[in-house]
Amino acid sequence: MPRKKTKSKTTKKKTTKRKPARKKTTKKKTPAKKKTKRKTTTKKKKKTAKKTAATKKMKTAGDIRVNKKAKTPSLLRGMKDLLPKDEEYWLKMRHEAESISNVYGYGKIETPIMEEASLFVRSIGRGTDVVDKEMYIFEDRDKTKIALRPEATASVMRSYISHGMQTLPQPVKVWYLGPMFRHDRPQAGRFRQFHQFGCESIGGHDPVIDAELIIIAYNFLKDLGINTTVHVNSIGTLDDRQNYIIELVGYLRSKRGYLCDDCKRRINKNPLRVLDCKQEQCQPVIEEAPQIIDWLSDKPKDFFMKVLEYLDELEVPYVLQSTLVRGLDYYTDTVFEFYEEDEEQKSQNALGGGGRYNGLSEQIGGQETPGCGFALGLERIVSVMKKKENKEENEEKKEVSNPIYFAQLGELARRGALKMIEELRKQGYAVKHNLAKHSLKSQLELANKFGVKYCFILGQKEIQDGTLIVRDMDSGIQEIIDQSQMMKKVADIFDKHGKNI
Ligand code: HAM
Repeated sequence: MPRKKTKSKTTKKKTTKRKPARKKTTKKKTPAKKKTKRKTTTKKKKKTAKKTAATKKMKTAGDIRVNKKAKTPSLLRGMKDLLPKDEEYWLKMRHEAESISNVYGYGKIETPIMEEASLFVRSIGRGTDVVDKEMYIFEDRDKTKIALRPEATASVMRSYISHGMQTLPQPVKVWYLGPMFRHDRPQAGRFRQFHQFGCESIGGHDPVIDAELIIIAYNFLKDLGINTTVHVNSIGTLDDRQNYIIELVGYLRSKRGYLCDDCKRRINKNPLRVLDCKQEQCQPVIEEAPQIIDWLSDKPKDFFMKVLEYLDELEVPYVLQSTLVRGLDYYTDTVFEFYEEDEEQKSQNALGGGGRYNGLSEQIGGQETPGCGFALGLERIVSVMKKKENKEENEEKKEVSNPIYFAQLGELARRGALKMIEELRKQGYAVKHNLAKHSLKSQLELANKFGVKYCFILGQKEIQDGTLIVRDMDSGIQEIIDQSQMMKKVADIFDKHGKNI
């Protein structure tokens, strides 16, 4: 660059001295300038061309310029919009979660969606899929490593420690419902943002606590119309597990050739995780593996037997699942999972799971504190609820919640309908309507679509007469009532066919 500069200066000198060369020199004289000029012009031209192209693409709507060709950003892979059509299931679950938690004396806790990543690395453990492959981790502006919570148990324990809850009467019993994040491979029943309802009982080591937590989850699902079988196992204390792991590693090494690549790596990294593997080729090896229950010392064994006795007492159907170890490292003693009854073989997706985590508090820097809990996957539960409802039931439900459609014809009637619908709403009656529709035909079509029992029709004539047409949608028979009778008519219809809001 500096060379070029010198060159152009020399040229400048030469040109000012020699007249004939002036014309040429004018060109040569300011090559830099000219270049710049040319550049600017080209730039300008380009810019203008771009602008024109962009303007062509854009359509002006008032003051707002709308780029018609702009692509709508797509929904992220593995994420899901929860739409109004599914709201009834979510409302039901939220309501049930709150009421069952209250009944069993659990108070609500809400922890943040983001935590220091180390909380999960230390509790869930390196070598687990959740930490190694699925955590959403990023650096905050202050360089802190942050994770979107993949689960809530570690957060609840962090909260228990940071708020000094060990000074409260023990156990401290809390419940939560909210979104979790795992960069799982999206497939049926696996999302990257999903919701869990969970209960944690911290500060108590008694088999009755484990049994109570199992019965809460079991009853929650039952109240939603889902019968489940509980798979249970005990993985004992950390010491029991160390002895078992030595035995397991020996066995797995002898079967290395039959295992998937992930499991080959797991033998040294985190051998218990081999028992969670869902790959078909690993199943025969897992089935033949030494059983952890045979390695339990007396205390954990007795503890587990008590849990099972309580479950027998409560008549909870369970299956002893010797290979069940769960995919998170913080578990000790009892572990359990919930499967839709009769679907366990077909489904690899548990509706929920949980267990005891007596070492978790110390793992994250707290005092020795026992704990036990469960979490249920709400997306999976919605899908079972939907599957269970056949079409007929769906139709019936539509009628039950929407027995009336309010149609109107003409500007005056629209205003009248707006007021009447508002009066009904104040009295607790939600009627279907679409005031933006002008033709009666399209409104009746909508009424049919909603499967309502009656359509109320208000036109110019009815406004003048102070009346209202009530059309029975099944028979097509219409009756004319006085507007003053409307509230009573609505109340009668709702008593018979619907429910208030
Ligand atoms: P988890 O087994 O990892 O346990 O998750 C519990 C439930 O969350 C699963 O059974 C499943 O229904 C649902 N779930 C997990 N991952 C996904 C996903 N990617 N998409 C949809 N649903 C999913 C825990 O999270 C422990 N914190 C449970 C616990 C509480 N243990 C003690 N206390």
